[in-house]
Parts: sequence; structure tokens; C-alpha cells
Amino acid sequence: MSRLGQAVVREGKALIHVDGIEDAYAGGRLEPAWMPVFYNPAMIPNRDISVAALQAYIDVYAPHRPVNIVEPLTATGVRSVRYALELEGTGRVIAGDIDPRAVELARVNAEANGVNVEVVEGDARCILYSLRDTPVLVADIDPFGSPAPFIDAALKALGRGGLLAVTATDLAVLEGSKARAALRRYMARLERIPHSKEVAVRALIGYIARVAASMDKAVEPLLSYYQGHYVRLYLRVERGAKRADRMLEEQLGYLYHCPEDGTAWLGEPGCSNPRSLGPLWIGSLWDPRFVDMTLRQVEARTYLQSRREAIKLLSIIRGEAGLGTVVHQRIDSIASSMRISMPKRVAVLDELSKMGYRAVETHFSPVGVRSDADPGLVAGVVRRLSEGS
Ligand SMILES: C[S@@+](CC[C@H](N)C(=O)[O-])C[C@H]1O[C@@H](n2cnc3c(N)ncnc32)[C@H](O)[C@@H]1O
Repeated sequence: MSRLGQAVVREGKALIHVDGIEDAYAGGRLEPAWMPVFYNPAMIPNRDISVAALQAYIDVYAPHRPVNIVEPLTATGVRSVRYALELEGTGRVIAGDIDPRAVELARVNAEANGVNVEVVEGDARCILYSLRDTPVLVADIDPFGSPAPFIDAALKALGRGGLLAVTATDLAVLEGSKARAALRRYMARLERIPHSKEVAVRALIGYIARVAASMDKAVEPLLSYYQGHYVRLYLRVERGAKRADRMLEEQLGYLYHCPEDGTAWLGEPGCSNPRSLGPLWIGSLWDPRFVDMTLRQVEARTYLQSRREAIKLLSIIRGEAGLGTVVHQRIDSIASSMRISMPKRVAVLDELSKMGYRAVETHFSPVGVRSDADPGLVAGVVRRLSEGS
């Protein structure tokens, strides 16, 4: 590779050599896929939160032991190098890629940053299966598009109580715009509805949960979110056939959309002719304590480039975290279904709080609310406020 690592970018505490970045601009926009080895600055917020979330995980679940981490789709190695540099309590950090140019660049980056990242060349699945005798606590799957092909191997690589971190960028599929692909890839019947961003998150967790159950494992979402062009999940993985049975019975189900009033329902339909989507995850999307600890990690790391953005996102999610087993409602969807004007979100939140319900904004939509009030009641509040405005 003649131009290997010509440009150097700073990300977190790392200096990362990237290749061909200057030739990958089209109309002032960076096209990371044009680079010989993929590097996307738009994913800095994803990696910043990853550093914070992994530290929170190590502090809570593995305070006394070195933690082995595997990232088998590493590209420049930026994520693994940052884990080795910025986390306390790491043991082996194993990075892999199928592309020899990526492997070479990731090795350059590990060495340039003075960290011991073991970089291996191969298919991510082979790398993960080869680790079955190594106690791995964290597997980070950050592919192009769908993570589905790698889930089985990642779950097998993880030891007891491991953390599976997953990115998905195939949002047209997960949000239901490509229904046939969704059925093939995630074994779920999806279609586009106003709440599709939350559907995307729940469909991906639902798929991973069913793969986990097939190997007598269960997952527990600690932090899940939708941002920009991707979904990101942090799932704790536990072993046990009974746990897996309970998870399937209690946390897998359907999400229903009622076109007549624009509401969404989780687990049970709220109208006679709903559109049903699933099976997907109907359990909680967050562990409030974990969200809080991740937020505190971000706040403490003043060097993070996306710190303000991450604090804003995690603060909203912290509000949502206690209400993870209900689906958000969209004021615009309710208003347009009932052909009424749309009241302000703050007015809807105030009214629901005055009525004694918990009601918060949601990161899934600027016109969304998450509340423990019945969705029909939220629709009634929207109607009443619209009539009064
Ligand atoms: C989106 S990039 C990874 C970005 C990286 N995780 C980061 O945070 O910057 C996906 C990488 O996966 C690699 N890849 C694609 N298919 C693979 C496979 N089956 N096994 C291992 N690596 C693969 C590609 O070569 C590419 O470098």
C-alpha cells in the first residue's frame, strides 16, 4: 500500500492514520466507502459513547479483572485502539478484518499509539469462533449495513455475563421500507409506520434475542438508541435455558399501529384493525443505572469530540429509561390521523404530568412523547389541546 496512513486524524485520545481521505470527497462531502480502508468521522459520536459505555460496563460488571474485548470488523482499528488507550481495566484487545489493507493499517495505528492491540486477518465469524476458549467479555460488531450475519458467532464468543455491542446501518430494512428483506434478514414482518425508528431498535433486539435463545442464552438491553444513520445496542448476555424461555415468553411480541388515531401499542392492540409488526422486542430498551453511568462517563471525559451531543442524547434517554416498556407516541401522527392541528409537545407533556402520568420527550422523534398513560389517553389529550389551541 503505497499511500498507507498518509493523513493523520485525532479522535478521542488516539492519532489515527487514514488512507486516501483527500480523494474521498464528493461535493465537499466525505464518502468513507471510497477510502481504501473505511474511516467515517460521522461515527465519532458512536465511538465516543462506546468508550463511555464499555467503561461503565467494566466498572459495574468486571471491576476486579482485566476484560478481553474483540472487535472483528475493525477497518483502521480506530475503535480498538481507542478502547486500549482510553479504557481502564482492559486485558487483551483483539481486532480483526477480512481486508489485508485494513489489517496493515490497524497494525500501524496500534503501534503508532503505543497500545497492544492484536490485529488478525480473517472473516469476522472465524475470528469469533476461534475465541471460544478465550474468556471474552465484550464483542463489538460494527459492520457495513446489517450485523445479522455475525450475531451467532458473536454470541458464541462471549463468556458468561458478556456485553454485545452492535451497530446496524441497514435502516431501510429495519424501519420496514424493505419488508421482504426484513423478513429474510430479521425474520420479522415490518412495514413503515411513523414510529419506525423505535421499531428498528426493537426489531434488531428481537432478532438477536431469538438467536441467543437458540443457544440457551438471554439478552438484557442496557442501552439502545437510534442516531443519524444507525442503530446502536449494548446488550448483556446471560446463559440459561429457563432465562431464555422466560425472555421469549415475556419480552417478544408485536407492536401495533392504529391508523384511525395514529397511536402505537406494544404487546396488545388498542384498536380493532391494527397493523401488526413483529415479532420484536417488547421489553425495556434500557437499564436506567447503566444509562446514568454511561452519561457520567461522557461528562467526565472532557476530551471527547462529541461530548455535548452525547450528553444531550444520553440525557434524553435517561428520561426515557424508566419508561422502556412502552412505545413512544407521535403527536404529528395522532394529529394527522384525526385531521386536527398539532399541539406543542411541551403542552402535551405538561398535561399528561398534571393528570398524574409520567411523560417525557423521546430521542426517537422531536414530536414524540413517551408516557405510561394509555396510548388512547395520549391521543385524547392531543385532541383536547388541539381543540383548545
Ligand atoms: C464499517 S467498517 C468498520 C468500521 C470500524 N468498526 C470503525 O469503528 O471505524 C466495516 C469493516 O468490516 C470489514 N469486513 C467486511 N466483511 C467482513 C467480514 N466478513 N469479516 C471481517 N471483516 C469484514 C471491512 O473490510 C471493513 O473494514
